[in-house]
This record gives sequence, C-alpha cells and structure tokens, in this order.
Amino acid sequence: MDDMELQSKPQPEITDLVAQNQYLKNEMKKMQSMAALGELTGTATHEFNNMLMTVINYAKLGLRNRDDASRDKALTKILEASERAAQITNTILAQAKNRSESFEPTQLNEIISSSLVLLEREMRKYRISIETQIDETTPKVHASGNQIGRVLLNLLINARQAMPHGGTILIRLCACRDDDNMVELTVRDSGSGIERESLPKIFDPYFSTKDGPDESGKGGTGLGLAACKEVIDSHRGRIRVESTVGVGTAFIIRLPIAGSAQAAA
Ligand SMILES: Nc1ncnc2c1ncn2[C@@H]1O[C@H](COP(=O)(O)OP(=O)(O)OP(=O)(O)O)[C@@H](O)[C@H]1O
Ligand SMILES: [Mg+2]
Repeated sequence: MDDMELQSKPQPEITDLVAQNQYLKNEMKKMQSMAALGELTGTATHEFNNMLMTVINYAKLGLRNRDDASRDKALTKILEASERAAQITNTILAQAKNRSESFEPTQLNEIISSSLVLLEREMRKYRISIETQIDETTPKVHASGNQIGRVLLNLLINARQAMPHGGTILIRLCACRDDDNMVELTVRDSGSGIERESLPKIFDPYFSTKDGPDESGKGGTGLGLAACKEVIDSHRGRIRVESTVGVGTAFIIRLPIAGSAQAAA
C-alpha cells in the first residue's frame, strides 16, 4: 500500500477506532464499578459476620452465667452488636436502592459516616484512629452518593494499607475558601507516603506497588485510584494528591456545590 492509497482511505476506519475506543472505555468503567461493588459487599459481609460472632458469644455467656449482672451485660452487648449490624444492612440497602447512580443534591457528611460504619472495626484492628473535621454548614454537592461513597471507601482502604503498623486518618469536609462553587473533602493519612517518581502514575489504571490482595483480600489491582479519578471527573470535580515519604499522604477532592454554575455546566 503506498502513501497515496493511505491518504485516500475514507474516514470509516477512524470512526471505527473511535467507536472501539469508546466501547473499551465503557467496558473498563463497568469492570471498575463491579470491582468497587465487590469490595463494598466483601467489607460489609465481613463486618456483619463479626457482629454476629459478638451476638453468639454473648448469648452463650448469658446462658452459662445465670446471675443478673452477667445476663444484663450479655444482653447489653447483644443489643449494641445487633444495632450496629442493622446499621450496616441499612447502609448497603440504601446504596443498592440508589443504584441508579443518579446525580442529586447530596450531603457528604452522611456519606462519610456510612463509610466509617463499614470500616470502623477493620480500622480498630489495624490500630488506626480516625479523626473527622466536618463543617456542618458545608453545602450539599451535586453528586451520586453511591459513587462518592465508593471513592471514599477506596481512599480509606488505601490509607489503611499504607499504615501497616497503625496511625491516623483525618477526614476533613468544608466549603472551599477560594472557590464559592466548590466543596473540599480531604482524606489524610500518616502512612508510608508515595515515592516522588510514582506520583505521576498513581491514577493510571493497573499502577500498583502492592504484591496482591492483603490478608483481608483487598488491594493490588491498581484500579482503585483510576476509578476514583473517573468518578470525580464525571462529577466535574478535581482530585489531587500531596504526599511525603515517611510522613503521609493526602487526597484532596473538590466537588461542585448543588445548584452552582459548575454543577450545571
Ligand atoms: N494513601 C496512600 N499512601 C501511600 N501510597 C498510596 C496511597 N494511596 C495509593 N497509593 C499508591 O498508589 C498505588 C495505586 O493505588 P490504587 O488504589 O489505584 O491501587 P491499589 O491500591 O494498589 O490496588 P486496588 O485496585 O486494589 O485499589 C498504590 O499501589 C500505592 O502505591
Ligand atoms: Mg487501592
């Protein structure tokens, strides 16, 4: 085939490539959201099971010890564990109901607290304390609560994995000082930090420094942050990272306030 022939080739091939590219992008999106959903269900099932264990163990204790004090203690523990279990199933049901992924005015502090319910026990197990700085007056954002919940879960799991010997996670929510149209959500950890040469690559699909799933079955595909970026981009928001090796990492997300010019754009 000579140059002339190539030049005179009609457009369809390019259109095909564009269509193919779009198709692959859509497939990739589906895979990412399935991976995130799997992670969510896995985490919730694990937590739910832990709570059932508490209920079973205290029921046994109550049956073995017939004195009032032991029985009161057992029943109180059973009640607490059952209430937490109910909170978890409610969170999952709420997310499943909202499966439409529709964008609506969304209160981010509610998304934060339901994500924390799911990870509370896991964080305690790894000796990670969670601090929150939530400005209750933060306006609602134009978002799919479902998708932002999955972003938060990904960031919190990454933070946990960066602190194998424990540490602190700070979650901060406030209106942006320098932009009236945006809200800022920060997840900061006191973990390993990210090497300077890795920083430009962390949002690339399949970039991972992890060997594979950890003992809780999480991590290592390198799709977590790529999916987060995709979600934030589709919200017309921004996500950026600040990190210092040995000190920690912060992911800073900006999302448009519901009804703002950015949200409508
Ligand atoms: N909070 C963090 N602290 C340190 N490194 C991080 C942090 N978050 C992400 N990274 C780095 O960025 C890489 C990519 O993260 P990403 O979440 O996309 O993939 P992953 O966690 O390796 O796998 P998975 O797809 O299971 O999430 C990680 O492998 C890690 O090297
Ligand atoms: Mg990850």
